[in-house]
Amino acid sequence: MSDNDGKKTLGLRGGSNSGNVKQSFSHGRTKNVVVETKRKRVVVPKPGAAKPTTGGASPVAGDPSKRPAGITDAELERRMKALALAKAREAEEAAQREADEKAREEERDRRRAEAEAKEREEREREEALKAREEEERKRKEAEEKARVAEAAAAAAPKAAPAKPAAPVARKANDADTEDRGASGPRKVDRDRDAGRAERVVKAKPGRGDDGRRAGKLTLNDALAGGEGGRQRSMAAMKRKQERARQKAMGGQQEREKIVRDVQVPEAITVAELANRMAERVADVVKSLMQNGIMATQNQTIDADTAELIVEEFGHRVQRVSDADVEQAIDQVEDKAEDLQSRPPVITIMGHVDHGKTSLLDAIRQANVVSGEAGGITQHIGAYQVTTESGAVLSFLDTPGHAAFTSMRARGAQVTDIVVLVVAADDAVMPQTVEAINHAKAAKVPMIVAINKCDKPDANPQKVRTDLLQHEVVVEEMGGDVQTVEVSAKTRLGLDNLLEAIALQAEILELKANPDRSASGAVIEAQLDVGRGPVATVLVQNGTLKRGDIFVVGEQWGKVRALINDKGDRVDEAGPSVPVEVLGLNGTPEAGDVLNVVDTEAQAREIADYRAHSAREKRAAAGAATTLDQLMAKAKADQNVSELPILVKADVQGSAEAIVQAMEKIGNDEVRVRVLHYGVGAITETDIGLAEASGAPVIGFNVRANASARNTANQKGVEIRYYSVIYDLVDDIKAAASGLLSAEIRENFIGYASIKEVFKVSNVGKVAGCLVTEGVARRSAGVRLLRDNVVIHEGTLKTLKRFKDEVKEVISGQECGMAFENYDDIRPGDVIEIFEREEIERSL
Ligand code: GTP
Ligand code: MG
Repeated sequence: MSDNDGKKTLGLRGGSNSGNVKQSFSHGRTKNVVVETKRKRVVVPKPGAAKPTTGGASPVAGDPSKRPAGITDAELERRMKALALAKAREAEEAAQREADEKAREEERDRRRAEAEAKEREEREREEALKAREEEERKRKEAEEKARVAEAAAAAAPKAAPAKPAAPVARKANDADTEDRGASGPRKVDRDRDAGRAERVVKAKPGRGDDGRRAGKLTLNDALAGGEGGRQRSMAAMKRKQERARQKAMGGQQEREKIVRDVQVPEAITVAELANRMAERVADVVKSLMQNGIMATQNQTIDADTAELIVEEFGHRVQRVSDADVEQAIDQVEDKAEDLQSRPPVITIMGHVDHGKTSLLDAIRQANVVSGEAGGITQHIGAYQVTTESGAVLSFLDTPGHAAFTSMRARGAQVTDIVVLVVAADDAVMPQTVEAINHAKAAKVPMIVAINKCDKPDANPQKVRTDLLQHEVVVEEMGGDVQTVEVSAKTRLGLDNLLEAIALQAEILELKANPDRSASGAVIEAQLDVGRGPVATVLVQNGTLKRGDIFVVGEQWGKVRALINDKGDRVDEAGPSVPVEVLGLNGTPEAGDVLNVVDTEAQAREIADYRAHSAREKRAAAGAATTLDQLMAKAKADQNVSELPILVKADVQGSAEAIVQAMEKIGNDEVRVRVLHYGVGAITETDIGLAEASGAPVIGFNVRANASARNTANQKGVEIRYYSVIYDLVDDIKAAASGLLSAEIRENFIGYASIKEVFKVSNVGKVAGCLVTEGVARRSAGVRLLRDNVVIHEGTLKTLKRFKDEVKEVISGQECGMAFENYDDIRPGDVIEIFEREEIERSL
């Protein structure tokens, strides 16, 4: 600031009339400018007093904007004080110079020419002016008091002339601000410090230097008057140019210099790509556009497109894929010497109620079946059994109900041997066939257990022949599939079954390396209220230990506890051992693979990556739908009634099974839509969602929590609890049937032929007919047929028999009929009489 002050010693020098200012420059140069008009205005603020400056004064010197813009009453007062200190001269000069400067910026060229002449004149006048100034000052002081009193009145006339120039003043100020900071405070400072000549003098050389520099640029201008303004504006211009140049150069340099390695995953948003390249999003969008891709910053582009763009920006591409992140998972092949034999995993499959669970119970000598809701298995049970001979077998029990297809498929995938249970009294049934197909698809050897052989109507031979139809050739028929006749009830043949399993397992030579990080498959997962997410995992390789960090599907965790099939806590689980794993951060999906990794960071990264790519995959699938497809779907949807439901189940597998069963309900007109399904108790969120779409909430082996119950009551959301999937399916089927629009069926109840047509006043044309078939009913619908072509359809206005209005006329009788709102009837036409009937339909 002080430097600025020094550059321009600004102040009011003389009285109101003098209007002459002296400008001091470096090297003792000075310049005087006549500013008579302005002085007058300040001192006697009456518009009439203002007179255009004459003589050598520049138009800007008299610019009224200068004073009004900078001078308030308070300031004037301060200025008076400054004058009293006899330092007004410098201040005046500076003020004037500022005016000059502004003017110079506006019309520098013209002023330049005038300036030289002015300077000479001013120097001559200087002495005289000084004397006048003193005089003026005294007078001004006297006037001061009066003016303060008149301040309010004076403000208006003062402001008026100021207005037109105000923008100019502001502009000049802005320019100042830009270059050197706010000019306002500087002015005030200057006025206040008007007496500090020292400072002014000190600062002068600085300005002089600038002047010289500016002078170097345009020498003539520098030597002429108006140095300060020109200097500054030149300098400012120079600086501006310099800045622009630096900016341009700098920008270019940056782009050329920094070539980045940009990691490009399989899908990336435009904004993220820009971020990784450290380029502007707008540039990236533009570049995409030039390549014919219209994408906003939040849109996802594929790796190929991203690569193109990265290359276009001159960066290096590094393609990364999901697999790269997942490399943290130990995928080293086991060496033969590390492998040890492991127990076989046996999955028991078969049609519903053929006795799978009972059979497994008999083997385990436990009694699971009596504890099952409705006596049916609704999720996979995993058990380990040690036979009398000491062999350890891991069993997976699967549900037989049709709804659990994917669960059975999963069972078949993780298993070594499938035991197909077929009831001897029932033979091969649909889910038996399905189980056969799963086993075949998974290329797993099969053992057929013909169960319920204790029953009197048992027919094991029929089972064998039935199996033949499905390309399962049992040993008895020359094939290689072992069959064992058993009874879960009487424990008949159980040893034989176990022996058969052991034999089969031996052939398979099952091996695993227990001394490596574990990997396994999620058989079942559930959200336990007390224990959080729990996954039943079948360890397939390695040994899972407490404290292991793992990633499982899109979830990860640290093993907090391992619980075996008997409900005991264990410290580790080796190959083929089914265990419940606690310590997950979320509920995984049944069928997910569990892998132990080294660090939590890796686990989290892999889980995040999987979740992210799954999301993107879903988004991409959604985006792939074309507008045509959407429209077609919307059109189709119009004719379809939907029954929305929300499903919450105890375990993931059940939820999945329910959803699949629900999807099967319905036809072209009605369908069940599962808005949301999940594992765990019914919460308020579920109720909120259900309310929004008017859906009932189905709780399968789960209940609503208290707040959800209350909300449901308040909002009238229906909650239904089930523990048997059949009941659930039946109920939903019935509910969906209710949505079916009743079918309307037409029954022809009679025909009549028109013999004659009469005209009856007030009624119009009446047909004299003979009912040829069935009955003619007054309330029924009628069609008029001419040569077997329907020419009218409507209702009857009258049905008469011998002048009497009747309800019904039977076949063989004559009657008079007239149509409602229709007259074109002729002899020979046939009237068809029909009734409509609504028929309730069901799925
Ligand atoms: P889902 O799990 O629902 O597919 O059925 P499941 O195949 O597990 O059948 P489950 O073990 O529940 O048995 C169904 C019914 O058959 C039960 O009432 C059992 O008592 C009966 N049952 C099972 N095995 C035998 C058997 O060997 N003999 C006789 N007589 N009844 C049996
Ligand atoms: Mg069962």
